[in-house]
Formats: sequence, C-alpha cells, structure tokens
Amino acid sequence: MSVPETIRWAPGGRSALILDQTLLPGVHEEKELSTLEDFIEAIRSLRVRGAPLIGITAAIGLAALARQSAVEGVSARELRARFAGWAERLAAARPTAVNLVWAVRRLRACLDAAAGDAGELAGALAAEADAIHEEDRRMCRAIGEHAAALLAGGEAVITHCNAGSLATGGIGTALAPVYVAAEAGRRVRVFADETRPLLQGSRLTAWELSRAGIEVTVLADNMAGSLFATDPPDIAFVGSDRIAANGDVANKIGTYPLAVLAHRHGVPFYVLAPTSTVDLGSPTGGDIPIEHRDPDEVRRGFGPLLAPEAADVYSPAFDITPAELVTGIVTERGIHRPPYTESLAAAVGAAEAERRHPKIQAAPPAGGRR
Ligand code: MRU
Repeated sequence: MSVPETIRWAPGGRSALILDQTLLPGVHEEKELSTLEDFIEAIRSLRVRGAPLIGITAAIGLAALARQSAVEGVSARELRARFAGWAERLAAARPTAVNLVWAVRRLRACLDAAAGDAGELAGALAAEADAIHEEDRRMCRAIGEHAAALLAGGEAVITHCNAGSLATGGIGTALAPVYVAAEAGRRVRVFADETRPLLQGSRLTAWELSRAGIEVTVLADNMAGSLFATDPPDIAFVGSDRIAANGDVANKIGTYPLAVLAHRHGVPFYVLAPTSTVDLGSPTGGDIPIEHRDPDEVRRGFGPLLAPEAADVYSPAFDITPAELVTGIVTERGIHRPPYTESLAAAVGAAEAERRHPKIQAAPPAGGRR
C-alpha cells in the first residue's frame, strides 16, 4: 500500500522536507525545515502532527542542526553544549505526545555514547534519527498485522482524529489494520469523525484513505451518537498520544465520548499505538499533561468567526479515556488485555530488550478475540 511520505531529509542532510499537513486536503506541498525555530513552529502549528511523527521530526531536527554545526566547524564540546539547548526547547514544543520526549531522550543517549569530532557526532545522531524513523515504519506494520486479526472483512470501523500514515513514519497505527486488511483483499469501510476543532478526521484521515481507494464516510463529531443508535460500526480503532501505566489513554479530544458510546452500544474499542507511546512514568491518566491550545482554533477554525471574540473558550487538545473502556491495546508486541499494569509493562520491557539485543524477534501476530 503506498502512503504519503510525511518527512524526509532534504538533499545534503542539513534540513528536512515535511508534507505540510495544515494545507491538506486541498494543497499537497512540502515545506523545508532548517532552523530550530522552523522545527518547533512546524510541531506547534501541526504542520507535522501525530505522536510518532512528532518524535521522528524532533529526531531529524536535532540531527540536522548537529550537521549544520559540524559544517560550521564547531568543536565536539561546543556541539554537545548546543545540543542540550536544542533538545530542551524541542522537547517542550508540545506537552502531551510522549513520543516527542522519548525521541529526544534517545538522541541524547546516542550523543552521550558517541565519541569523535563534531562530524562524527552529527553522523551518529543522523543514524539514530533514521533508526527511529525506520523502527516506526516497522512498528506500524506490526501493529497493523496484529490488529488486522480483529477484522474478518466486511466490517465498518470508526476512528477519531488521524492516526494514519500522516501521523507516523509508516502506515499509521489506528489505520494500519485497515491498510493491511485492504492489501489482503478484505473489504473494510471506515467512519471518520471529523474531529473538531482542527478537523484531522475529515481533512487528513478521509484524504489518505480515499487516496488509497478505501471506502470512507465522514461524520461531524456530534453525529456519532446517531450512527451508534441506528447502524453501529463493528469496531472502534483510535491512536494515542500517551498511554499511562494503568492503560488510561490520552488521545485527541473527543476520543473519550467515542469510547463511552462504544461501551454503551457494546462495540469493541481498541487503542493502537507503538510501545514508544506507553509512558510507565505516568501511573494513571491523571498524571498526563494535557495541552490546551489557542482559543481561536475553536472560535475560527480555518475560516470566519464562529463564536464571538467576547466568549471564553474551553480548548483542551486531548482527553483521557479510562482503561475500563478500552477493550484492548495493540502495540507492535501484540494485543494487550487488562490488567494493563501488567500487560503494558511486559510489552515495554520486551521492546526495550529487543532494542538492546535486536535478535529477539517481535511477537508473531496474535489471534483475533474481540
Ligand atoms: O493534535 P494532533 O493532530 O497531533 O493529535 C493526534 C492524535 O490525537 C493522534 O490520534 C495520536 O497522536 C496518535 S497518531 C498515531
């Protein structure tokens, strides 16, 4: 399945080219990111978005900045000092997606372990950024293969926001099983919540699925109740920005009401995310920082005023779905079931062990219990 390329090195490897997601679906245009401010702005303004892609972008950004410094001729010591400042600012660009901090930490550990002059340090950072990108591609595929076992064919899947190829370095997380099933010739239909206020569902999910020839129906968020009451989807697949150790899930605002609806109507509700999205350092959803965004995203969206300037606005970008509403969590290690405190800790431990000793193989696709 061919999916759009979300980020790549610009020729010369000192800057990155991203697909500017703020322009989709109307305009398909790349934007070059060169400076630290470019990378931070692209992450904050959602030109690149989705937890895994934010992490990949930060990693490529750090490596690109290191290469620029090496070309300037700075010492290894100076490069290490500059890196500390870049890492701190990039890690703070968005607070909820833990993949951002995770990727920055990986690059920091890589730099700490590397030796040599500035050119060699920059080379090590670029190789680590590429490894993160490549691992994400493989994790998406593995998530898709595990979760495709939940689809026999003919299902209607409902999803929220965009956890597809546009949010990752591969075929996505929540949409990965849809692509895997389609590749195998199985028919799957997708209902894409429009996802107010920035419409990642209608602008991005519907775009990438229709581009791939997959049947997709867009609905405004407040229409989901009517759909469940009249013609319920068979299964819900969503992504996540951070999963707490107990299985509580932070994802795009509106995910929690979708989980409540699914529960009310007996529809299985799955969260699909790589182990890099699991934060064992956050014991519960209450420990996850929730980003609040510019009120004008609600007041105006992308166009004219929709609410008076004088009105206050409530605009959290994410909500928390309690673990009790989550039927299963699918990572590249398999399908994890409650109690999540145990199953997630085991998955993260196995993923970390595999990274240290790559010979340990990823788990084979699990059988499909709904
Ligand atoms: O604000 P966004 O567009 O970055 O929010 C994205 C989401 O909520 C996704 O569902 C999540 O990051 C998972 S992406 C595989």
